Amino acid sequence: MATSEAVSAPPAVKASIDPQKPAQQQQIDPYNVGGEVDETGAIKAIDYDRLIQDFGVQPLTPDHLSRFEKVTGKPAHRLMRRKLFFSHRDFDKILDAYEEHGTFMLYTGRGPSSGSMHLGHTVPFLFTKELQEIFDVPLVIMLTDDEKYLYTRNKNDGHQKPGAAPEDFLNFAHENIKDILALGFDMKKTFVYTDYEFMGGHFYRNTSEFESLVTMNQASGAFGFNGSTNIGLIAYGAKQCVAAFLSSYPELFGLPDYRAPDYKAEGKRRHKSLASIPTLIPCAIDQEPYFRILRDRCERMTDPHPKTSLILSKFLTALQGPGGKMSASDPNSAIFMSDTPKQIKDKINKHAFSGGRESLEEHRKLGGNPDVDVAYTYLSYFLEDDEELEGLAEGYRKGEILTGEMKKRCIAELQKFVADFQARRKEVTDETMRAYMTPRKLEFAGNLNPTRPRQAPVAAGANGDAAAVGSADGGSAEAEGEKSAAREDGRGTKGERKAAKLAEKKAQKLAERPKEEA
Ligand code: TRP
Repeated sequence: MATSEAVSAPPAVKASIDPQKPAQQQQIDPYNVGGEVDETGAIKAIDYDRLIQDFGVQPLTPDHLSRFEKVTGKPAHRLMRRKLFFSHRDFDKILDAYEEHGTFMLYTGRGPSSGSMHLGHTVPFLFTKELQEIFDVPLVIMLTDDEKYLYTRNKNDGHQKPGAAPEDFLNFAHENIKDILALGFDMKKTFVYTDYEFMGGHFYRNTSEFESLVTMNQASGAFGFNGSTNIGLIAYGAKQCVAAFLSSYPELFGLPDYRAPDYKAEGKRRHKSLASIPTLIPCAIDQEPYFRILRDRCERMTDPHPKTSLILSKFLTALQGPGGKMSASDPNSAIFMSDTPKQIKDKINKHAFSGGRESLEEHRKLGGNPDVDVAYTYLSYFLEDDEELEGLAEGYRKGEILTGEMKKRCIAELQKFVADFQARRKEVTDETMRAYMTPRKLEFAGNLNPTRPRQAPVAAGANGDAAAVGSADGGSAEAEGEKSAAREDGRGTKGERKAAKLAEKKAQKLAERPKEEA
């Protein structure tokens, strides 16, 4: 190689064209998503098989799909059928828990980095919504205004730019929540919050305990922090982790929290009965580093929690092609949920990377490649009809369907999805938003025929606790054994049920008490 080097090239130019320049590996973590960059500077498609290896997650297999369909009696969501949700950790265990005990909690979230969401942001929420409907389970949605504030300030070398104060991120969170709710979540089973508004009570206690389980070295290892990273960002991950614990939200399950203005004695201790119920997190795979940290520590909490299960998606490809994801900071890479039909059409026509051939003749003769075709890729996310989708892929490969035709089909589908969304978004008022954000007992049924029913958290009342705090009531070891068996397999012991009734009455009285008295 040295002999072919231009003798007189100035060093600066040489460096930038040096063919020996090491290629950049693909980088996927909560703060970076990019495919491998080769020596020529070309970005390659994200290699998801390699990601499975690197992260040590499991691929989602046809067996999982059939098990899912057997347990729920419902067909798997198109995003699962098409391997867009493609990997998992302990997804089987969630199905086991659902079969045996009847319920689990769903948890997902969003970092409100701006007020507008794009098509890619809706994907995990659409999927989560369907899981919630199928399983009939509670869902919490976390908006991490704090994370985005800390991250942005960190990125700007410690400077707080105009429009990037904590309040600004709180406002983004509110806008995003309205977008999320426009996707149609069932209010009875769904709680939405922002960290700035909700942090406190048992949630904060879990946070503090979790923070004590993560060292600086471990956080740096997972997220690439260094000595210049602000300490808020370093600690932030603990919140995103403990948000997966039911014990962070006692009020959603009819148990008292411990917060101003009403400090109920029964809420002083975190509720052990909630700690035993597992959680499933549907999310894009860039969030996995958080939850790896979480899973390693679930069992070390004062009240051990089962390891959180994950079901992980790919990223919605940028318009420019499969080396990157849609990004809000690059308007031409993304379709926004606020785009007009014309904007959608223009963006797809102008920017969507095509898997078609150079010329019409070539395309007719050799056929196109739907796998890298962005219009086709979007259809695979949003078009429900399997047969039509297969037909499109097939026709494309054969050269019967042209790029323009594929784009046209994609434009129609996205225009419809976005228009429907916008119509619903208009209906989401501040009052609606606040109703979802009010901590309250959620209503859900879960699996109606569990094989080894445990006391449902909704039914637990304060008693699940009385039992869970162990021998606080002075019970003998034997009685304890009986109780825990009852907790595992039945609806609680007689004593527990009685205690629950009493606690419920007491809570009722407390709630009815005039404010001055309280
Ligand atoms: N950190 C996530 C983001 O930047 C937001 C988030 C919080 C989240 N909790 C989550 C995402 C749980 C998925 C699942 O978008």
